[in-house]
Amino acid sequence: MDSFILRKAMVKDVRLIHELLMNEAATGEGVVLPRSYNDLYNRLRDFYVVEDDATRNIVGCCALAITWDNIAEIRSLVVSRPLRKQGWGRRLVEACVSEALTFGLFNVFTLTAKPEFFEKLGFSLVDQATLPQKVWADCLNCPKYPDQCNEVAMQLTF
Ligand SMILES: CC(C)(COP(=O)(O)OP(=O)(O)OC[C@H]1O[C@@H](n2cnc3c(N)ncnc32)[C@H](O)[C@@H]1OP(=O)(O)O)[C@@H](O)C(=O)NCCC(=O)NCCS
Repeated sequence: MDSFILRKAMVKDVRLIHELLMNEAATGEGVVLPRSYNDLYNRLRDFYVVEDDATRNIVGCCALAITWDNIAEIRSLVVSRPLRKQGWGRRLVEACVSEALTFGLFNVFTLTAKPEFFEKLGFSLVDQATLPQKVWADCLNCPKYPDQCNEVAMQLTF
């Protein structure tokens, strides 16, 4: 039987996280941005991964990035296609939300093209203008901003 492990990312995972994000970005569906190796090493502590116990491949990832004093962002969420609709996306997001709570952060947001998925996890649509100004700076650096932006802001508050 296949078995998978959800855990914090390790340095040895960076190449496989990079590949997972690049492969998803290459589908052209425009739901995930590719991340550079430099960025992944810098932000490695943000990441949770799902590892295939048999192959040691990384088949899912998600990051929690602290934004400001009361809010963190969920980003870079990907589950590899064969593993979808088996609860791993939910488990990855729940791990990040749980980590936010341990840091004393009671608001978690995401910019997403999949609002239906995040709704199932309790997130609600919010006006992006209510998010910290820093979030807008990230938008300015996004290649899809502003005309091709297909994302909405969603937030979960405790
Ligand atoms: C979105 C994604 C992470 C979901 O992962 P997953 O492992 O298939 O999700 P789960 O199996 O945990 O699904 C949790 C719930 O959301 C639902 N769901 C999953 N994908 C969905 C989608 N695209 N639209 C609506 N609902 C969805 C599931 O049916 C499930 O509902 P249930 O609890 O009522 O059974 C995965 O499809 C993916 O990697 N997509 C490409 C990258 C992407 O879109 N990332 C999101 C960034 S914005």
